[in-house]
Amino acid sequence: MDERVEAILKANLEENKSCAHGLGHLQRTAEWSFWFVTQMDGTLREAELAYVAGLFHDMVRPDTNEIWHAQDSANKTKELLKDIYQPNDLEKIVKAVLDHCEPKKEWESLLHQAPFFADKIAEGSGAYVCLREALWSGESPDYHGKDLVRFVPHLLRKRVDGVLRPTNYPSRFSKLVEYQNQWILDFSEALEKNDSDAVFLLEFFNKRGKEGLDFDSVISEAVLQKIGEFGGKCLTEAMHYVRGGKQSQFESLIQR
Ligand SMILES: [Fe+2]
Ligand SMILES: [Fe+2]
Repeated sequence: MDERVEAILKANLEENKSCAHGLGHLQRTAEWSFWFVTQMDGTLREAELAYVAGLFHDMVRPDTNEIWHAQDSANKTKELLKDIYQPNDLEKIVKAVLDHCEPKKEWESLLHQAPFFADKIAEGSGAYVCLREALWSGESPDYHGKDLVRFVPHLLRKRVDGVLRPTNYPSRFSKLVEYQNQWILDFSEALEKNDSDAVFLLEFFNKRGKEGLDFDSVISEAVLQKIGEFGGKCLTEAMHYVRGGKQSQFESLIQR
């Protein structure tokens, strides 16, 4: 990848207003986008361009889901990368940024679909997203006035029934999607039962979301807390994921 690309991103993050969707989220989405293209036997060039799309996919990210951020991120990506990539490649990157939120029946290419897969199967799922959702519930006005112990599991389950439905992805990824979804279902059920670990984690991350703290620093603080077996399992899994330790397990879940 062109070395200038990451520098351009970092110098232009003023419209990335969300601590749940900050630089760590962008960098991991880039890495998983590269990984998904590779897992689908794409070329190195496609994987590199998917990496760039993943890196820029949420560069304009308000603290509410009421504003459609994909179009704004796509426009900004086009403007910032126009002197780096040829028009043909730039168009592909911008299209992948634009379409990273919703499943599609027909994807134009592996590059087109990889940032969506990365943003949902990897970054939008698993134990990690349960904790990120708790952080987001603190920072986003979308949650004001809600009973979070009920509302957060409601939204998490909606995610499993919607964007994370295994049929939205090639069948080779079904086991991986199901593995990731099981964490969401377990965490949602624990909250619905008022499990003390789940409620503690929700409140811990929610409070720091209100303070605008970055997810990656909050999880480092969370793992130092005294917590029961269920909470410890969630934190260990999410921390392992954030530190890049899930790749080989995810590869073992892909049907060849
Ligand atoms: Fe997004
Ligand atoms: Fe994202």
